[in-house]
Amino acid sequence: MTEKKSIIRSVGAYLPARVMTNDELAKLVDTSDEWIQQRTGIKQRHVAAEGENTSDLAAAAGRKALENAGMDIADVDLIVVATTTPDMTFPATAAVVQQKLGMHHGAAFDIQAVCSGFVYAVATADSYLKNGLAKRALVIGAETATRILDWNDRTTCVLFGDGAGAVIMDHAKAGEDRGVLATSLRSDGHYWNKLYTDGGPSSTRSMGHVRMEGREVFKHAVGMITDVVYKVLEDTGHTIDDLDWFVPHQANKRIIDGAGQKLGLPPEKVVVTVDRHANTSAASVPLALHTAVTDGRIKRGDLVMIEAMGGGFTWGASLIRW
Ligand code: ACO
Repeated sequence: MTEKKSIIRSVGAYLPARVMTNDELAKLVDTSDEWIQQRTGIKQRHVAAEGENTSDLAAAAGRKALENAGMDIADVDLIVVATTTPDMTFPATAAVVQQKLGMHHGAAFDIQAVCSGFVYAVATADSYLKNGLAKRALVIGAETATRILDWNDRTTCVLFGDGAGAVIMDHAKAGEDRGVLATSLRSDGHYWNKLYTDGGPSSTRSMGHVRMEGREVFKHAVGMITDVVYKVLEDTGHTIDDLDWFVPHQANKRIIDGAGQKLGLPPEKVVVTVDRHANTSAASVPLALHTAVTDGRIKRGDLVMIEAMGGGFTWGASLIRW
């Protein structure tokens, strides 16, 4: 008997209307469009409006994913939101999203794995579906990352943006030979102080701002990413050449290029959105998926590798037959 797979039915996305260019940032801190583009590939980022919270971005992306699947909220019995920038310390942003989408049934909770959050959330929903704990899941990555930036720190404030992406995960129907094929999740908490916020409810009774040893993150990123990608390929008996699309976390164009080169992937198979979105943490992978599905690159039956690495450190990859 073959194991029942959970498939991705649809994708949705939401980006705040306000776009902030590198030139605008150069008026706030001592930086330049040239430096930012050269070191990161970022040209612009979206910034949530005053009063527009992570749950608003998440609900908007969720509505789009439901619409694109031809479903409404009654068809879903699980909401998982991956976020590092919750509306409040509690309740879970997923609960607020549940209220905004008018859902009274089912279950809703958040996943906190920073930039790897969406890969962790897909793995969680996949397990819930396979184990019969849920029938259909709305899985969202949503961030208002700009809210936790120190706008005086040029080494971090130029890197991040706001946005949300969502997918509907469903049981495969008879004859649907596609879905999540394998996932590898990793973390090593010994690296927590390389990328963190200098505050939180328990330690400082405040939220803190992003602090990062950029070079340290860079040093580890490519190796960690490629390790989980190889693990997932090995687990499924696939090779790099079998991949149709590589959809990486969008932290930095140099990390994406480094991973792509180490894996031996042709650049045209790599989906890049960091130039327009910057690093939207847990939202970056579903936003990139949405971009490549909407513009017609990712098609039914394609073999798609998603991966992410971020604070914790956490990292992970998932291979999906689309
Ligand atoms: N504008 C202009 N100059 C800057 C800026 C800026 N925004 N930021 C730093 N500099 C300066 C530094 O002060 C330093 O100046 P100095 O030589 O006079 O001391 C110089 O530029 C070089 O600084 P480095 O930190 O060595 O620059 P580097 O080439 O390492 O690039 C960067 C910095 C882009 C952060 C890089 O380390 C990186 O990409 N790291 C990966 C981290 C990342 O992408 N994090 C995102 C979150 S983590 C994740 O999602 C995986």
